[in-house]
Amino acid sequence: LPALIAVLSLGYLLGSIPFGLLLTRMAGHGDLRQIGSGNIGATNVLRTGNKKLAAATLLLDALKATAAAVAAQAVFGANAGLLAGFAAFIGHLFPVWLGFKGGKGVATYIGTLLGVTPLMVLVFAAVWLSIAFITRYSSLSALIATLVIPVVLWITGAEEAAIVTAIMTVVSWWRHKANIERLIAGTESRIGQKG
Ligand code: G3P
Repeated sequence: LPALIAVLSLGYLLGSIPFGLLLTRMAGHGDLRQIGSGNIGATNVLRTGNKKLAAATLLLDALKATAAAVAAQAVFGANAGLLAGFAAFIGHLFPVWLGFKGGKGVATYIGTLLGVTPLMVLVFAAVWLSIAFITRYSSLSALIATLVIPVVLWITGAEEAAIVTAIMTVVSWWRHKANIERLIAGTESRIGQKG
């Protein structure tokens, strides 16, 4: 039990670092939560017009989950890696520092995959890039990619990872509620558009 608590706390604490918010503030863009969708993730950082900052946000938000997963895995084994990644995802969505109002968990989802089952990052990227290329919707690309991952994990026999990522998918979809409503209404902003 102490090991489990250590793994979950480490994951949560790393995950709760809001890199998008910190980087945009440091770069003088003000409060990211007042820009675009108001989300703290890389897609919304892109709406500041600063592509490098958006890339850095994606990378750091992903790597905080990877770091948690890799560290937990090294000490406690594979399933601990999965749990730590999950905890980082939860930390990103519900950071104590921001009154538990965090992001949508796409980067931390990818970072967890990178730490636990790196080949799945290629699957995620292939799906995300295909949908983004066709539709220019970041949210829709993430929604579809997060649907595909648990299915692929399940059919390839990675059952624990399939179950944990399926939970992450459900939670992330729930956090994308406003995006889904905008997609249905035809008002979701496309990559490269500001609003
Ligand atoms: O990573 C979240 C993305 O799928 C949507 O972001 O800012 O358009 O709500 P945003």
